[in-house]
Amino acid sequence: MIDAKTRYIVLIGDPVEHSLAPIVANAVFEREGANYAYIAVKVRPEDLESAIAGLKACGVVGLAVTIPHKIEAMKYIDEADDFAELVGALNLIHFKDGRAIGYNTDGYGALKTFEEEGITLNGKKVVILGAGGAGTCMAYQALLAGAGEVVILNRTAEKAYRLVENVKKKMGCCVEGRIGGLPLTKENVTESLQPAEVLIHTTSVGMYPNEAETLVRAQQLRPGMVVYDLIYNPLKTQLLKEAEKAEAIPINGLGMLVYTCQRAVQVCTSIEPPLDLMKRVAIEGRS
Ligand SMILES: NC(=O)c1ccc[n+]([C@@H]2O[C@H](COP(=O)([O-])OP(=O)(O)OC[C@H]3O[C@@H](n4cnc5c(N)ncnc54)[C@H](OP(=O)(O)O)[C@@H]3O)[C@@H](O)[C@H]2O)c1
Repeated sequence: MIDAKTRYIVLIGDPVEHSLAPIVANAVFEREGANYAYIAVKVRPEDLESAIAGLKACGVVGLAVTIPHKIEAMKYIDEADDFAELVGALNLIHFKDGRAIGYNTDGYGALKTFEEEGITLNGKKVVILGAGGAGTCMAYQALLAGAGEVVILNRTAEKAYRLVENVKKKMGCCVEGRIGGLPLTKENVTESLQPAEVLIHTTSVGMYPNEAETLVRAQQLRPGMVVYDLIYNPLKTQLLKEAEKAEAIPINGLGMLVYTCQRAVQVCTSIEPPLDLMKRVAIEGRS
């Protein structure tokens, strides 16, 4: 029950109405009998600075940060963890001893999901569709996880090229020859996927309410290929249906949501959230 001693984690974004994170985190607090609450508020881009300062002044313990604030919020923190610094974006701010500490746990969420499925990226050829916030994060994470080669395809080709240049600048010679960018055309998707072992889909194509849409068909996939779709609404996107047809390994975005929510609770409250409960609540929340 919320009372005068309740402490808050606040999700800020625009839109935030469809986020599952509040029901997942609040289920943890209820189970643990912890006097915390996780709430979501819509914050417009022009209000970001004052919202962060105001919530800090109100004594909230942390902010989960989502679209479209992940990059801009980097301006309003005192320090960042290594991955947020590398990517130039964050998804969590912890207020501690008067300081605002930024974290990026999206890559962690993806890696934990792979780990759960017994998949490693080491030495593998990875194709990433999309060069937005999630695509950027996955490009850095795949290379850090030892991917042999990463090819990024994006509808706006310049964004893919810019991302490749940024990665090369920041990661230096260790990524030389391991990263490339292409325009997202059917031919480029087909050619890139031929030698690939892992496909990571980070665009919003196929997300509710456009559930019939997909950028990739079964004929372009192979048995045993990992097909990871970051979307979790719906849980089985058209892309994952195509992966099933091709006897590839389909993985949805629910794990990433749960693991990033788990990290937010761990960092901001020191509670060790029960993953099984979080997954169950997330699946129930989806349906
Ligand atoms: N599971 C999770 O916890 C989790 C976490 C983060 C994100 N996500 C999901 O990842 C997706 C992207 O999020 P984001 O933060 O990266 O968004 P974003 O920064 O807005 O990027 C959107 C990406 O989608 C591409 N795109 C949009 N419409 C397209 C179309 N019709 N055809 C081809 N490409 C198209 C954009 O290409 P252009 O550059 O050409 O516009 C861009 O690459 C969303 O579905 C989101 O729900 C899931």
